[in-house]
Amino acid sequence: MFKVLKIGGSTITDKAKADCVRDEEIERIAGEILDQTSGLVLVHGAGSFGHIPAKKYGLPGKFSPEGLRITHASVVELNRIVVEALTEAGVDALPVHPLSCVLLKDGRIEKMEVDFIKEMVAGGILPVLHGDVAMDSSRRAGIVSGDQLVSYLAKALDAQTVALGTDVDGVLCSGAPLKEVTRKTLPDIESCFTQGPGTDVTGGMRGKILELLELADAGTTSLIFNARKAGMVKKALSGDAIGTLIRRSD
Ligand SMILES: Nc1ncnc2c1ncn2[C@@H]1O[C@H](COP(=O)(O)OP(=O)(O)OP(=O)(O)O)[C@@H](O)[C@H]1O
Ligand SMILES: [Mg+2]
Repeated sequence: MFKVLKIGGSTITDKAKADCVRDEEIERIAGEILDQTSGLVLVHGAGSFGHIPAKKYGLPGKFSPEGLRITHASVVELNRIVVEALTEAGVDALPVHPLSCVLLKDGRIEKMEVDFIKEMVAGGILPVLHGDVAMDSSRRAGIVSGDQLVSYLAKALDAQTVALGTDVDGVLCSGAPLKEVTRKTLPDIESCFTQGPGTDVTGGMRGKILELLELADAGTTSLIFNARKAGMVKKALSGDAIGTLIRRSD
């Protein structure tokens, strides 16, 4: 039984400042994950490590080999920090870089190797993926967001629990988190999306919901919750319905 957890770049970095990592958040979350690694696949967002260089080089709209290399190196560095914190907390974790196992077509994952991820999980190892740059068969190159990876992996692995931590209490409307979002209710909440303080080249909260609605269409409910609040990652992994549920319309 698989669980897919995403820790947003907004949780583990300050998205308004380049390369600004929140070590204390990563360490706390590593501790919350420790007892619940069975069947778990972890994805973390790119945060300021990815969104800021990507924007600087005009990705994903512009093809820039230098932009791809620099953005990839930056997200790999964040991934190294996350894997190291997990290791120090006592979790057996291994890095998985999407650039080396994903092919996009028109910005969407066309092919992704997942058998080795299953083998890691079967061996008691936590695979740690991240938002990354990737090659694209129709646009030469693009960006694969952590959110798209979650949606794809949850489908490919038929995950039972799918949770995405960010830095807000869920999908907010008039300051309060919504209980749920479906394709049917999306038009009613369009006015709730604001431009946050951080850089995000993959559509921010709205982009996240669109990815999760694709997963909901396939019958899998996911949740968006606040991973900056202590104890919430543990609750999300236990299957508690915290934050906002993204589910299929009745
Ligand atoms: N209606 C809304 N409800 C909640 N958050 C919103 C809303 N509209 C905009 N936002 C912004 O969306 C942000 C979360 O999305 P964002 O993509 O920046 O984070 P993330 O997915 O955690 O980071 P990353 O993409 O690096 O993984 C919040 O910090 C908030 O500023
Ligand atoms: Mg995002």
